[in-house]
Amino acid sequence: MNKLPAESKKEIEMLVKDLNEHSHRYYVLDAPTISDAEYDKLFRRLQVLEEQYHYIRPDSPTQRVGASPLEKFEKIKHTEPMLSLGNAFSRDEVREFDKRVKKVLKTDSDVEYTVEPKYDGLAMELTYRNGVLLRASTRGDGFVGEDVTRNIKTIKAVPLRIEGVHPVPEEIDIRGEVFIDIDEFEKLNKERGREGDALFANPRNAAAGSIRQLDPSITEKRRLHMACYGLGAVKGIEFRDQADFMTWLKKARFPVPLIFNVVRGIDNVIDSLQAIEEKRPHLPFETDGAVIKVNDFALQRTLGIKTREPRWAIAFKYAAHQGITVIEDIIANVGRTGAITPVAVMRPVQIGGVTVSRSTLHNWDEIERKDIRIGDTVVVERAGDVIPHVVEVKTEKRTGIEKRFPPLEQCPVCGSNVVREEGEVAFRCIGLNCEAQVLEKIKHYASRGAMDIEGLGEKNVELLYNQGLIRHFVDLYKLRKEQLLELPRFAEKSAQNLIDAIEKSKATTMARFLFALGILHVGEFAAKQLAKNFEKLDDLYRIEAERVMAIKQMGEKLAASISGFFSEKENLKTLEDLKRLDLKLTNPDYHEEGEKQKGLFDGLTFVITGTLSRSREEFEALIEANGGRATGSVSKKTSYVLAGNDAGSKLEKARELGVKVINEDQFMTLTGGK
Ligand code: IVH
Repeated sequence: MNKLPAESKKEIEMLVKDLNEHSHRYYVLDAPTISDAEYDKLFRRLQVLEEQYHYIRPDSPTQRVGASPLEKFEKIKHTEPMLSLGNAFSRDEVREFDKRVKKVLKTDSDVEYTVEPKYDGLAMELTYRNGVLLRASTRGDGFVGEDVTRNIKTIKAVPLRIEGVHPVPEEIDIRGEVFIDIDEFEKLNKERGREGDALFANPRNAAAGSIRQLDPSITEKRRLHMACYGLGAVKGIEFRDQADFMTWLKKARFPVPLIFNVVRGIDNVIDSLQAIEEKRPHLPFETDGAVIKVNDFALQRTLGIKTREPRWAIAFKYAAHQGITVIEDIIANVGRTGAITPVAVMRPVQIGGVTVSRSTLHNWDEIERKDIRIGDTVVVERAGDVIPHVVEVKTEKRTGIEKRFPPLEQCPVCGSNVVREEGEVAFRCIGLNCEAQVLEKIKHYASRGAMDIEGLGEKNVELLYNQGLIRHFVDLYKLRKEQLLELPRFAEKSAQNLIDAIEKSKATTMARFLFALGILHVGEFAAKQLAKNFEKLDDLYRIEAERVMAIKQMGEKLAASISGFFSEKENLKTLEDLKRLDLKLTNPDYHEEGEKQKGLFDGLTFVITGTLSRSREEFEALIEANGGRATGSVSKKTSYVLAGNDAGSKLEKARELGVKVINEDQFMTLTGGK
């Protein structure tokens, strides 16, 4: 290990401080002062220094990523239990809450309250010791939650260190809600749809599902956010009231609720509820109510807790945009990857000014959980801009003729078998020539983020397909103008334009093309990662899954899918056909960032010994994929000994020679992925 010179130590510390400051400006204040490229440059400089000197501060932004997947979450006991909230569904119930408060406080004067939106996500506790984020845990049953520290660290808005306040408390538990913005939620679901994954039913499920991921690299991609609103156990600092605490949180760079009002007297509380409700349709996140809290902490203590709810706070729930209608039918949609999505066809109903006649039922788990049947009378809700969903079934309206809609055994389009892979929610048609899939694949190929063929939207793809002119996206390149001219929608100019657009699309980037291929689980992000690491298409032919997994953020499922795709003869033939058709791929992404990953172990030699969780060959492949060398015997020149369980003489030799010994976890961290 290289000795750490004073100026490098100083540089590392400055970089950590600056990067955290920029992160805060970007993710919390929404007011960045440097460009993404400048940020990346500083970040890479820090990475290099840290690697060189092995001096990694716990609050370093590099520590937000790169942790390897866990087997399971550890349990964490909350120092102070995490409570839930009672609900008020009307203004009268809010007034009753105020009466109860005054009664316990034995006062007739107006009480000071705070009002903030109720975030619809997952409650979280962040524990900071001496200012450094020690751990993050879910609410769990209120007493014991799960340790999700590594996942929380990927949320850029969460400070790794408390800064900007004096004194820094010895220990403090800060509570808040992890959530996903509606925009991000919709993007995520769209991407999942495209990749053939089952959709999340709502933003809350998306946030919860993203936090409860054993692999932090998945959490990182989900762009979660957090709003801090509560105090748990604390040592070394005192707060007078909720407002005081909020001011401190803001100063200490924590993300706080977007709206926070302090008002005196219940009438003002009700005005404030009204004001938040009016803003609700414009808020970037999902909220179904507002939380009212007695501001003064001393009064909160006097009021205390009743069973598991505080007497000093209540959640006011806004009436949702709901309607009641009947499910006339359930149909199954087959997507590009064969994923089958059940969709309810409903008697049209007006909800919040919009006619709703269809609602995705997401997946069969959801149908089963809510016991949704054809003929059922259901409550349908449209929250914010989120797609309508079935809230509940009015079972009392059942007449006995309602029909269940069990998972299909055959694809409704091609009749092939339907399977459900282990650990997946989606059922999938396995038919290779399934018309629905073929058609969706061509649509995807031509679509905007993919080959971006202008004038070839869904309608035109359907037309060409139904006329028998295309059966595969390769056929697009064989289309002739005369053929188009015979179709109802085309005239001389539009036909020529389409032919030109198809021709023009031949020159594209490797990343776009990889995305356009529609490989299961490969979205735009994964396609870009691939393009960064493989220069040419040929480099991917018959690629082993292990080599794909050596790339940062590429999981097992994804790697298997990619490896499978490029091993399939039929697919390789398609790629060769495309090459002959003069497809011109450029790869500006290659090595841009990949360089560091690829040459991560450049010049380093490893010796593997002992029992590891995977085969020795797999680790060797990982080392080589990163530019390193795996050798059989330990010498002074060995950079690292990767030691598993029951390591013997090689481990001893390493210790003797002072060669650095690392375990599997540390090795995985070094590779920067999984
Ligand atoms: S305060 C003593 N404030 O709502 C209770 N909770 O239904 C402390 N929630 O478990 C909660 N936004 O997960 C509080 N601004 C907010 C909130 C909020 C969302 C959640 C929280 C809590 C649940 C109770």
